[in-house]
Amino acid sequence: MYKGKARAYTNIALIKYWGKRDEALILPMNNSLSLTLDAFYTETTATFAEEFTEDRFFLDGVQQSKAATKKISAFLDLIRTEANCSFSALINSQNFVPTAAGLASSASGLAALAGACNEALGLHLSSEELSRLARKGSGSACRSIYGGFAEWQQGTDATSYAVQVPSDHWENDLSMIFILINDQAKEVSSRDGMRRTVETSSFYAGWLTAAAKDLVTIKQAITDKDFTALGKVTEANALKMHATTLAAQPPFTYWSPESLRAMDCVRQIRQQGLPCYFTMDAGPNVKVLCQKRDEQAILQALQANFAKEQLILAHVGSGLTALPVNNPAPKTIKECRHV
Ligand code: ADP
Ligand code: DP6
Repeated sequence: MYKGKARAYTNIALIKYWGKRDEALILPMNNSLSLTLDAFYTETTATFAEEFTEDRFFLDGVQQSKAATKKISAFLDLIRTEANCSFSALINSQNFVPTAAGLASSASGLAALAGACNEALGLHLSSEELSRLARKGSGSACRSIYGGFAEWQQGTDATSYAVQVPSDHWENDLSMIFILINDQAKEVSSRDGMRRTVETSSFYAGWLTAAAKDLVTIKQAITDKDFTALGKVTEANALKMHATTLAAQPPFTYWSPESLRAMDCVRQIRQQGLPCYFTMDAGPNVKVLCQKRDEQAILQALQANFAKEQLILAHVGSGLTALPVNNPAPKTIKECRHV
């Protein structure tokens, strides 16, 4: 029996990944850039054993459906091939993040799964190899291998992975406040939403042109430690991504009236002199980027409009971490080789 455990934090994209050019390999249409955060994470234990007759997937203590397990099995198959192992697996995952609510559970979930399997099977994959592997589970997961800023470079199957963005530790001066509007699972998953947008949105070509420019702008902002430039491009990029969904067929939006109220509130706080900018993902929740030195004042201003329980403060999170398990991981996987 081979067992491994890992923790991965969620990351929020400041320049969004929105669209695939290869659905099976999960190759993106554009580069994206994110910040890994400490507020939400996943811990996953992977156990591979000869006596298991099928893969089983438990999320938050509940055995998942055949369809959800099939998705995990497809990912495990990649690892089994890499490890030359044919054992079935038991996956036990705990999300310390609402699942499928636009708070990036797929990023922390698949990165933690990649890490747990790497530990269990003693694969000793490098960060780049782990990122490449996690990408094949969920695109955004490839960025959660790293703490701080990470850029997912489009590449080809072999070269499409995230890398750390040099920042001279500037991310330690930044905060993100999550405004929880709704933590229930959304109607349109990121996967389905981006597919529909790529296939039908007349705004999609414009998105790709803009995203490429925004990436250059944000990297310069990070180099210059220019918070205004970082915030402006973050907010503008999210708005452009969300605009593409309105021109899809059939049109859809992840915004709710409360999301609009939150965006408006952020603009007002900014006009009052506190620098802060919003971003949103595939769900109604709004995330507010600000500098640590202003976080308490901004939290206070937000509390005038939202309940305390709706506001979650996050700082920079660390990269994928191996956690101890009862049975230490094997040094080699030779005994596991059946094929
Ligand atoms: P989110 O905004 O939470 O990332 P998505 O729709 O992009 O929402 O992804 C949600 C999907 O991610 C889930 O339906 C599931 O397939 C996968 N997922 C979430 N958490 C985990 C986990 N801990 N382990 C494995 N897969 C997970
Ligand atoms: C809006 O990574 O969840 O959060 O690759 O299909 O699993 P799949 O999609 P996923 O999409 C994330 C979309 C986003 C933007 C981002 O995180 O870059």
